[in-house]
Amino acid sequence: MKGVLLAGGKGTRLRPITHTGPKQLVPVANKPVIQYAIEDLKAAGITDIGVVLGNKGREAIRNYLGDGADFGVDITYIVQGDPLGLAHAVGCAREFVAGDDFVVYLGDNMLKQGISALVESFERGQYDAGIALQSVAEPEQFGVADVDGNGDVTRLVEKPDEPPSDLALIGVYVFSPVVFDAIERLEPSWRDEYEITEAIGTLLDEGRAIDSLVIEGWWKDTGKPADVLEANRLVLDDRRDETPPIDIESDAETTGYLDVHDAATIEEGAVVRGPVSIGADTTIEAGAYVGPYTSIGPNSTLRNVHIENSVIVGDSSIATDGKIVDSLIGRGTSIGSADGLLPEGRRLVVGENSNLDL
Ligand code: G1P
Repeated sequence: MKGVLLAGGKGTRLRPITHTGPKQLVPVANKPVIQYAIEDLKAAGITDIGVVLGNKGREAIRNYLGDGADFGVDITYIVQGDPLGLAHAVGCAREFVAGDDFVVYLGDNMLKQGISALVESFERGQYDAGIALQSVAEPEQFGVADVDGNGDVTRLVEKPDEPPSDLALIGVYVFSPVVFDAIERLEPSWRDEYEITEAIGTLLDEGRAIDSLVIEGWWKDTGKPADVLEANRLVLDDRRDETPPIDIESDAETTGYLDVHDAATIEEGAVVRGPVSIGADTTIEAGAYVGPYTSIGPNSTLRNVHIENSVIVGDSSIATDGKIVDSLIGRGTSIGSADGLLPEGRRLVVGENSNLDL
């Protein structure tokens, strides 16, 4: 079994964060989203991984993942180029897959329980595709499966106006190589993309066996800022009862789970309430408050600010008397204080190299 990790796409819904980097490298609890996928593949015993790159952020992804050795896997890069859809991206991996069964993992998806159950279920039968489903509140935003009384999939539709069920297709699939022939026969969809959902629909029409598994643990497509914050909250929440990895020497007031990276400093007079992740070489100065579900990237300084439920990517200076909540703040950002009244609780989505006076 091989792995095909899709790392292309335009990242439009995560602008401005994605103006300067790929969405797959946005950090959740100080780890890029794509690394969670690599770890899930490895945990399922899949170490031969093809990473399909689009036009956006190719070099950044290559630089981060390298040949995979740092993550205990072996990575082959495949260049898709223009983003013509997920099925097109998978089609680009045909040579790499070379006749094996394979898992396709969308590089911006995160799953609490990983993919081992899906892979094992596929391997127990004679299937040509295996899909993972989850009941969601807004199925029209996803691919949706119609399932009969026996739990067998009868139909798949991509982003339907009238969803036949609330079961969304999670961004992890298992395929036998016959999917490549189905992909070759596809026509572009209404959104002008070659849809992987339609390729699986073709297999279904041909009477091929499709495995499906309803996934109970949380799943996030981190396509939008609110999803990144939610994924960050979910990952930190899962760790809240764990013992922190390092025992930080600090006279500051700290409670709860603190994931503190090398050479981070929490000064006396600062307050940090976990679960929180603090990146390497970051300083939380006296007077600052970091509240639950916040991840602060490396090389940053926090002064005076009260921040909670937010992600700061890194290399930033946040020095405002104000309160920052529910915010995603890109790399290299500087936030200072302006004179005058400070309203309570701002919501921010800020791109790289921004300067704000609040
Ligand atoms: C893609 C798939 C969709 C699936 C979703 C999961 O959507 O087309 O079927 O439910 O990923 O994240 P997209 O991200 O291309 O809108």
